[in-house]
Amino acid sequence: MGFYSDVFFPWGMNLTMSGKAFQEQRHAVLKSVDGKILEIGFGSGLNLPHYPKQVKKLVTVDPNLGMSRYTQKQIAKFDIEVDRQILSSESLPMADESFDTVVSTWTLCSITDIEAALLEVKRVLKPSGQFIFLEHGLSPDAKVRRWQNRLNGIQKIIGDGCHLNRDMRKLVEEAGFSKLEVENFYFPKAPRFLGYMYQGVAIK
Ligand SMILES: C[S@@+](CC[C@H](N)C(=O)[O-])C[C@H]1O[C@@H](n2cnc3c(N)ncnc32)[C@H](O)[C@@H]1O
Repeated sequence: MGFYSDVFFPWGMNLTMSGKAFQEQRHAVLKSVDGKILEIGFGSGLNLPHYPKQVKKLVTVDPNLGMSRYTQKQIAKFDIEVDRQILSSESLPMADESFDTVVSTWTLCSITDIEAALLEVKRVLKPSGQFIFLEHGLSPDAKVRRWQNRLNGIQKIIGDGCHLNRDMRKLVEEAGFSKLEVENFYFPKAPRFLGYMYQGVAIK
């Protein structure tokens, strides 16, 4: 932690990731989520307006306390009770099989021990529960991939731990879900090295 992580990154992230294109993507993945929900990497709470009306409560985790100044304002605007926990998703305090749905948007790129976090996601999901994710990651295009590998070090600094070159499908697959569906596309108007998207649902 430090000025960059606590102050500058939350400000910059909240600003850039609240744009129209992001909102459209958030809406598309969250429009039919239901049940008891855990969101990992809650950030500044930019997903809140996109949960369906029937969602009245959320449990969230994120280790960055610096997000609070944005999160609290955001929470006050919506009729959803948020149990916001300041912790990392590599080790969750929640009981086994306690959620119907786990949500992650643009978060798997930033988790240090991604394998441990995905095993935790699976552990806290009920049988047949859904892990819903929207993430950027490794592109299949060799030229884009080369840039992703080249720029990964600098991106980790600028993006506060964000990796450009994670194969999200493979990582989720390796966590051992029973069923996995992933759609890939380039995020509209984003540089390709940043915008190769994995939108998926993994069933426990
Ligand atoms: C690019 S931001 C995305 C925030 C939010 N998910 C969104 O869609 O606006 C990545 C988020 O992951 C969080 N993060 C980083 N490491 C994490 C970890 N180990 N467990 C949970 N969240 C983490 C960061 O603090 C940050 O809020």
